[in-house]
Amino acid sequence: MSRTVLMNGAFVGWDDATVHVSTHALHYGTAVFEGIRAYYNAKKEQTFIVRLMMHVDRLYRNMRVLRLALPLSTDAFAEAIVEVVRRNALKEDIYIRPIVYWGAGAVGLHPFGRANEYAIYVEPMGKYFEDIDVGLKVCVSSWARVSDNALPPTGKFAGAYVNSVLAKVEALQNGYDEAILLTKDGFVSEGSGENVFLVRDGTVLTPLPSDDILLGITRDAIIRLCHDRGFDIAERRIGRSELYAADELFLTGTAGEVAPITSVDGITIGDGSIGPITKVLKETYFNAARGNDECYRDWVTPVFE
Ligand SMILES: Cc1ncc(COP(=O)(O)O)c(C=O)c1O
Repeated sequence: MSRTVLMNGAFVGWDDATVHVSTHALHYGTAVFEGIRAYYNAKKEQTFIVRLMMHVDRLYRNMRVLRLALPLSTDAFAEAIVEVVRRNALKEDIYIRPIVYWGAGAVGLHPFGRANEYAIYVEPMGKYFEDIDVGLKVCVSSWARVSDNALPPTGKFAGAYVNSVLAKVEALQNGYDEAILLTKDGFVSEGSGENVFLVRDGTVLTPLPSDDILLGITRDAIIRLCHDRGFDIAERRIGRSELYAADELFLTGTAGEVAPITSVDGITIGDGSIGPITKVLKETYFNAARGNDECYRDWVTPVFE
């Protein structure tokens, strides 16, 4: 079955979901997007979208930064996402990509006068990290994280992802699974597409929002799970060497899920296996996101009646 894409209020076929070459966002990165997962639960014959309203709210907040606006309420946009998933009816785990952008027009930096366009499409997505169940080998990137006063990393602004792509490509070419970027001041920020957590002496730590991180929705979920499971959790500045000395280390993200790290720059983390706190958080998140945990039923939106 060919996939259908929602573009500016109309459903179009996959091959017709195109943009004009003069689109402002193509030249200057003036788009805001989201990445949302939906898991197919075969037992319940249901697809569950994970934390849908949080994603739509983040999208709309970030649109304001780029002066983008749509004639759709957040509720209507969320309903449109559900409709795209429903119509594509993929009975597998999927990734949903909504994107809002400044459209076509004459060359020039200011985008005013162009259309504010949007698209929503889905694609099948299994594991983002092949080694998620055995642990990732990561490096500290030679690229610094973009800073909030230059190119906001707090939201999914298309242009800022050049920073992530540079770090990811470098990491893969050097034989690692992922890169961790530091702030321009040398503190731990985040992965190319994930937030970072470490465990030290039983306390779970993660960088502050002011450390040039994306305000991750999975990060938020993990903080909540730490409280619920009785793990001490703190948001604070983290030095580079604390990564190497951590007892446990993991990444969180919608695509990347909860991904344990077993080495950084060749230095083994803990005893080189997946740590006990990481294991609990990974399993609890996995069940909650698939709609299998009644305690977190409000995290997921069922797609089918
Ligand atoms: C740079 C970056 N950091 C962190 C995350 C994790 O955010 P979330 O948990 O909302 O997916 C992402 C998600 O794609 C990301 O691109």
